[in-house]
Amino acid sequence: MEIRLLRSEDSTAVSEIIRRCLREINSRDYPEEIIGRMCEYFSPERIMQLAEARQMFVAVDDGTVVGTVSRDGNKVFTMFVQPQGISRGVGRRLMGHIETLAANEGYEYMETGASITAHGFYQRLGYLDVRTSETEFGFNYILRKTLRSRPTVS
Ligand SMILES: CC(C)(COP(=O)(O)OP(=O)(O)OC[C@H]1O[C@@H](n2cnc3c(N)ncnc32)[C@H](O)[C@@H]1OP(=O)(O)O)[C@@H](O)C(=O)NCCC(=O)NCCS
Repeated sequence: MEIRLLRSEDSTAVSEIIRRCLREINSRDYPEEIIGRMCEYFSPERIMQLAEARQMFVAVDDGTVVGTVSRDGNKVFTMFVQPQGISRGVGRRLMGHIETLAANEGYEYMETGASITAHGFYQRLGYLDVRTSETEFGFNYILRKTLRSRPTVS
């Protein structure tokens, strides 16, 4: 599996993964009205806009986009793995990728806004609760994880 920056031709696949996750997984924890609003928001066009504002990555397996995550410095956004590919380590690898980048840039911690659905995932990866927040897309947990930068060999 390869992790690389999103390309314009990935935007439809990424939009599709996010929308499927929202409808098939996150809908267990959020009302239909919020899920509908989020699905509308994450169009392929919006994905391209977001990719200009943040570093957006995709996990590609055998030529197919299977997951995505983005970051703005040490802040995590849009962590989604295609529903049929969850629980196979894709999310952990995507998070490891952006945590390493942030650590190498000198950030001391990583911060994420987790849905109710993904709260346990981030805790499993070592994130600790900082506070909760109410956004236009519903209730979120804000979590942080301390980063250790890789020692440079001189
Ligand atoms: C949350 C999500 C990104 C996790 O990705 P994933 O590829 O399934 O996660 P991984 O397989 O890498 O799991 C890593 C570890 O977290 C655990 N884990 C994964 N999801 C979990 C959850 N919801 N609750 C508790 N633990 C979880 C796994 O068991 C695994 O533990 P292990 O390595 O000790 O065996 C994925 O399930 C998803 O896309 N969910 C729907 C969309 C969503 O909620 N996205 C987050 C928006 S904030």
